[in-house]
Amino acid sequence: MTDETRTYAVPSRVAEGSPNLFPSMDAYREVSQDVKNDPDAFWLGVTKDRIAWRKEPTIGLDGSFHDIAKNQISWFGDGTLNITESCIDRHVDAHPDKVAIIWEGDEPGDGRTLTYRELHEEVCKTANALRELGLKKGERAIIYMGMVPEAAIAMLACARLGAVHSVVFGGFSAEALRDRILDCGAEIVITQDIGRRGGRDIPLKEVTVQATAATPSVKKVLVYKRTNTEVPWDHERDVWWHDAVNSASADCPAVECAAEDPLFILYTSGSTGKPKGLVHTCGGYLTWASFTHQEVFDLRDDDVYACVADVGWITGHSYIVYGPLANGATTLMFESTPLYPDAGRYWDVVQRHKVTVFYTAPTAIRALAAKGDDFVTKYDRSSLRVLGTVGEPINPAAWEWYYDVVGEGRCNIVDTWWQTETGGIMITPIACATPTRAGSATFPMVGIEPILLDDEARRIRGPGEGKLCVEFPWPGMARTVWGDHDRYVGTYFTTYKPYYFTGDGCRRDAQGYHWITGRVDDVLNVSGHRMGTAEFESALVSAEAVAEAAVVGFPHDIKGQGVYAYIVLQPGVDASDSIEAELKQVCRTAIGAHAVVDLFQIVPGLPKTRSGKVMRRILRKVAEGEPEKLGDVSTLADPSVVDAIVAGAKKL
Ligand code: PRX
Repeated sequence: MTDETRTYAVPSRVAEGSPNLFPSMDAYREVSQDVKNDPDAFWLGVTKDRIAWRKEPTIGLDGSFHDIAKNQISWFGDGTLNITESCIDRHVDAHPDKVAIIWEGDEPGDGRTLTYRELHEEVCKTANALRELGLKKGERAIIYMGMVPEAAIAMLACARLGAVHSVVFGGFSAEALRDRILDCGAEIVITQDIGRRGGRDIPLKEVTVQATAATPSVKKVLVYKRTNTEVPWDHERDVWWHDAVNSASADCPAVECAAEDPLFILYTSGSTGKPKGLVHTCGGYLTWASFTHQEVFDLRDDDVYACVADVGWITGHSYIVYGPLANGATTLMFESTPLYPDAGRYWDVVQRHKVTVFYTAPTAIRALAAKGDDFVTKYDRSSLRVLGTVGEPINPAAWEWYYDVVGEGRCNIVDTWWQTETGGIMITPIACATPTRAGSATFPMVGIEPILLDDEARRIRGPGEGKLCVEFPWPGMARTVWGDHDRYVGTYFTTYKPYYFTGDGCRRDAQGYHWITGRVDDVLNVSGHRMGTAEFESALVSAEAVAEAAVVGFPHDIKGQGVYAYIVLQPGVDASDSIEAELKQVCRTAIGAHAVVDLFQIVPGLPKTRSGKVMRRILRKVAEGEPEKLGDVSTLADPSVVDAIVAGAKKL
């Protein structure tokens, strides 16, 4: 049994010699107080130190959560910049030959590196190519790629032109890709012929062809050639990356943008079937990504920093591309999976590239722990100093394995809590300073005021458990939902007005440590992938055989959460042997390969109140294997369906 009050001191080799702002908890507390006293002065100071502004801002925050329905929050509103000058140009001046990107391809040892000088050249050429294809400031480009350096180059090239990119994770289906293209009205799609992952081909171009069959906004499709596979081709619209980019000029002056111009849109799941396009803007986002990356991981000049997330998610944006490059760091891009060719792959990468900071998701840690320690111990991990986790709550056993086996007790673990909406890390240890507890995200980043609210929306002071909200704006927060500010306000700023509601639950212990308990809304977190139950349900009811569907999560040893679907068939339809396979395919087609239902249960009806509302609490308890905790079911229109549901409950 894990002792939750056990505190792990920062190992001395991690604590020593920090060049950063928080070498100790005292320093962290002092700066926290400074930020509280005068946030504008603090963040203006940070942004001027960290970011290459064309015109330095004189204004910090403008706006508040109270009037966010009318006025979007603005940070550094009178400044101008092009974020690529912070991420590339100034590092070319300071250290042109420093490696910016280490690319580790799918096959072990296959890959390449790009120095800052080379990255600059590639980004400028790609930006010129995109301009030639018609992409202008403010227009949108969809990036639907795997983990190749060209994905980061494409992001930066869009930013060079002041265009807005929206990266769509390469696992999403054609339908999901199409919806995102339509929602943001993209002019250009950037993709590749084939993606490679875990020894398998991912037909990115083919999916793009299906997705763009009826998307009138798309004028051109730029295709990076990753393999020699032949792919469907439209001679009018499709352009090979090597044809357009290789011949382009490497001279591409960066377009000046306002601090609050959108940098990117990233779609994420919520409690409705339609994903939201969260908008992050140039000045505040980059400040937050850069500051948090430097301070949380206690970045050192010679670090080899590896975040093994995908650029399709916010972690890839902030902590593979924007944060590390803004900080002039060496960042590793990993194309493969933790299990390819075997469960030693991460540590093989660590050994070969002498990785010092390693950042992954709890689901990967659990999957690897289950494979045994030998896969870890046969590689040299002595370069490691900081181990990070993100994306879902980490159970203490997995944390301890990461600490003891991977880090051999010589690394600090930073369990970083944050969200697509927050742009960057919000609650986290500081690698060189914070004594950690297994499974706790510990303390807020300076400038962040997390608050816990009880069921009556009363603020819990001191220890307690409640809904996690944030009290004040911070530079990295998403500013709006693309094309739908009302939805942004309704989702985040209405339930617990005037606070930002995260959708998560959280417990604070007597020493002020924060323990994220998971989502309290209808969002699932499966292997660190965020998906809405409503997205599954709308996919499932689109199948002819299905009358009604309700989807809930249940605890899963490796994935964190599994997906449990209750299905009511149409009258006259019998449960056939093939129905599960058909419905799995329906979810795959509507959402993507990562949208896997683990358990199906065909039920005679859903438990509903007399007003027709599905009582999800009951469905959750049954899926969690706790039917004895159903509570009062007497308010149901037809309590007998509960007996049938309990009797037919499925288990893995
Ligand atoms: O539930 C929280 C969980 O992931 C959600 C955010 O998902 P997404 O926007 O996809 O961003 C993931 C990467 C930042 C949160 O609402 N989550 C994220 N990090 C943690 C976490 N839960 C517990 N502990 C974490 N460290």
